[in-house]
Amino acid sequence: MSGPRRIAVLASGRGSNLQAILDAIASQALDAELVGVFSDRIDAAALQRVPAVLRWSRDARSYPSRERFDLELGDALAAATPDWIVCAGYMRILGDGFIARFRGRLLNIHPSLLPAYRGLHTHKRALADGARVHGASVHFVTPELDAGAVIAQATVPVLEGDDAASLGARVLEREHALLVAVLRLAVAGRVSERDASAWLDGHALFTPLPLDSPDLRLPPP
Ligand code: GRF
Repeated sequence: MSGPRRIAVLASGRGSNLQAILDAIASQALDAELVGVFSDRIDAAALQRVPAVLRWSRDARSYPSRERFDLELGDALAAATPDWIVCAGYMRILGDGFIARFRGRLLNIHPSLLPAYRGLHTHKRALADGARVHGASVHFVTPELDAGAVIAQATVPVLEGDDAASLGARVLEREHALLVAVLRLAVAGRVSERDASAWLDGHALFTPLPLDSPDLRLPPP
């Protein structure tokens, strides 16, 4: 390996997970370089978190087809030569062609303990079910939405009186730690996707790593 690994981020909104990556790079908790932020919305707040030279955004709704947008996004991404591509609040479905092009390097952070609550409104649905435990997952992206192999998860308790906003805020805080922890493994070359499973250090993971596992813990400062 020569030089820090190159990370690209796909984001549609606020970009707090992107910020967690930027902060981890700045504090040297993550040995990586951010090579671009890519968005399907020209006004995504996430874009403002990085210098203009790192921004790529197009209004996906103005494209005649998903394929056309994905192709342009994919070409721009490929030009940035990322080792890892992180969907961090990227709200647009990626087509099969795009996923095939980048498969194995494409990660997503999702605000639930997958396979529970794929898709949208995860906090509201967890509360409606009376779930006692909720959380977030980082997984490889595959053509089926939120169904790829899960690398790691962070759990949070559901508290008496929680609403979707309070629960979501508690999950989001753990998302930031989880995403950085998984990226630390990724840039160290320790995780991969093989045979539809997530692998760590050459072994298939049969269950996702918990955020408090030794493999994910940050070294003491
Ligand atoms: C996060 O909850 C992420 O898991 C979900 O969308 C949200 C994005 O938040 N996919 P942010 O844009 O990173 O602040």
